[in-house]
Amino acid sequence: MNRERKFRLGVLGSGRGSNFVAIADACVAGKIPAEVAIVLSDIAEAGILERARERKISAQHIAPGKFRTKLDETAERAYIDALQKAEVDLVVLAGFMRILKGEFLRTFAQRVVNIHPALLPAFPGLEAWKQALDYGVKVTGCTVHFVDQGVDTGPIIAQQTVPVLAEDTPETLHARIQEAEREMYRAVIGGLARGQITVRGRTVFWKKVEQRMCVDGHLGLNS
Ligand code: GRF
Repeated sequence: MNRERKFRLGVLGSGRGSNFVAIADACVAGKIPAEVAIVLSDIAEAGILERARERKISAQHIAPGKFRTKLDETAERAYIDALQKAEVDLVVLAGFMRILKGEFLRTFAQRVVNIHPALLPAFPGLEAWKQALDYGVKVTGCTVHFVDQGVDTGPIIAQQTVPVLAEDTPETLHARIQEAEREMYRAVIGGLARGQITVRGRTVFWKKVEQRMCVDGHLGLNS
């Protein structure tokens, strides 16, 4: 039987995997024309590995090596090898708490995306929702971007705003941002799998609508 090859995702995460679950379930439901080929984590007991195994998706813990915030050379090679062996077309970071650099990004040039819980370039780095709350902004949100050599600096693919409410705690704000994240990540990965998203310099275009993706812009959520 000659089945058409599906677009293949490699998902990297360190946490409980709520974004991964939304992506994997959207693939199965046909909302994203892709399949999750492999899930990798730097944390052996991360929920994301468990969620993948429940779905019969290949899931591996690969130890990060001697550094605290990035992969050492041996670990980086092991991540690259696992993703290449799984023949992934796109690397999706879903709460992966290690900075990816050099050889990894050269191997998967413009094929690594990340979701960040703030409207970049505001509040890069850790606990961005808490940074936003402490700063006193009235609106924050989330950003999907291509990953480059910097921290949260790559070309922005899509952003979604989330209002900050007077009664918000870090937990309630983070929960609302995560709801927005799941919807937006799904739409963007769908767009990438369909070949609709192109990047020129720092500017990302959504082919179908021929317009720049912007805050509250058309995300192709129903496409
Ligand atoms: C997400 O909130 C994302 O913004 C950040 O890490 C978190 C991962 O959560 N990059 P989960 O593991 O997908 O639940």
